[in-house]
Amino acid sequence: MRSDPAATGNKVVLAYSGGLDTSVIIRWLMNRGYRVIAVCADVGQGEDLRVVRERALACGASKVFVLDLRKEFAREYVLPALKAGAVYEGKYLLATALSRPLIAKAMAQVARAEKARTLAHGCTGKGNDQVRIEVSLRILSPGFHIIAPVREWELKSRDEEIRYAQDHHLPIAKKSESKYSIDQNLWGVSIESGPLENPWTEPPEEAFRWTKNPATAPAKGEYVTIDFLHGTPAALNGRKLPLVELIQKLNAAGSRHGVGRTDMVEDRLVGIKSREVYEAPAATILHAAHSELERLTLDRETLAFKEAVAQRYSRLIYDGLWFSPLKAALDKFVEETQVRVTGTVRIKLLKGQAICVGRKSPYSRYAEKLATYGAGDQFDQSHAAGFITLWGLPYAARRNGKGR
Ligand code: ARG
Repeated sequence: MRSDPAATGNKVVLAYSGGLDTSVIIRWLMNRGYRVIAVCADVGQGEDLRVVRERALACGASKVFVLDLRKEFAREYVLPALKAGAVYEGKYLLATALSRPLIAKAMAQVARAEKARTLAHGCTGKGNDQVRIEVSLRILSPGFHIIAPVREWELKSRDEEIRYAQDHHLPIAKKSESKYSIDQNLWGVSIESGPLENPWTEPPEEAFRWTKNPATAPAKGEYVTIDFLHGTPAALNGRKLPLVELIQKLNAAGSRHGVGRTDMVEDRLVGIKSREVYEAPAATILHAAHSELERLTLDRETLAFKEAVAQRYSRLIYDGLWFSPLKAALDKFVEETQVRVTGTVRIKLLKGQAICVGRKSPYSRYAEKLATYGAGDQFDQSHAAGFITLWGLPYAARRNGKGR
């Protein structure tokens, strides 16, 4: 009955997390005459999604889709960011930012299948996530009507939302009373609000979700080796693993040693600075290992150029421009550089640090015969003097034929 607008017009596809905001949104949309189709994307947040599904239904959703997107997230979003070396403002490994375009894509797919033309999300009006989701949706499927209830509703605080939930008998999770706003997935945890809003306040230990305190981590540390195949992590400690599993195992190992905590003030796209705390053990270890392997296998000019690309690439991710032409073009460049990024990196996890202690590759550009100060040196030092003369020639003081 595709010509009947009433059959399609009041459906809304909501990106549902199971948290307080999106649970209240279900009922709020229903009270405005919508039938809510909830989409729960599993991007490795480690939540029991059966519980999330039940909660969506109990809040009044007419349908729930639980989508396991972990593999796609790892291969199509996390991996390109890793190969590109994408780190925002030198510190943030972009876990939240990378998940948003994928969640938007899933929302659009469900909307098309369900013939819904209205989409909703639970982002606030002062964050980056609203931009990432809505810009992605506009690129993927123009013509959707988008509602952002948290941006427009009358509920002015978390306490008012909790009251709304109680008044409507919504089954909200216990942790909804947490002081912190948490977003997590395979690539890391983002923690904000509560005591963290004062940038002078040290993050309380209770703010952290995954990692052990580095101060109490084992003094012995732990070694891990990671094999890369053309820039893709392929094995951990000599054992081949699918990417999702490899990341999960590294998250566990890193967490044991307090690796991957970040405390920063960052610049949001909407013009404000915010204080953010992150935990990203696997991401920290993999970025460290991948970049060390690049140092071994890439030439100096490519490395330097790639650094500039990395910075630009991280901004594209942060700014919600994942599905943009520039991002696609930069992917082609990065992919070309990864041809030689094959080899093994050995990392020591020790009290909050991931330290590279060894690297090797069949494509290594390191030549011990040229670098050595010991016997067998093949570096012809007699070339150095001429090289220096010409290298410095443009800058050497001129005598102009005067004086002396
Ligand atoms: N500041 C980070 C970003 O913009 C994390 C956002 C966390 N989002 C959340 N819903 N708690 O990517």
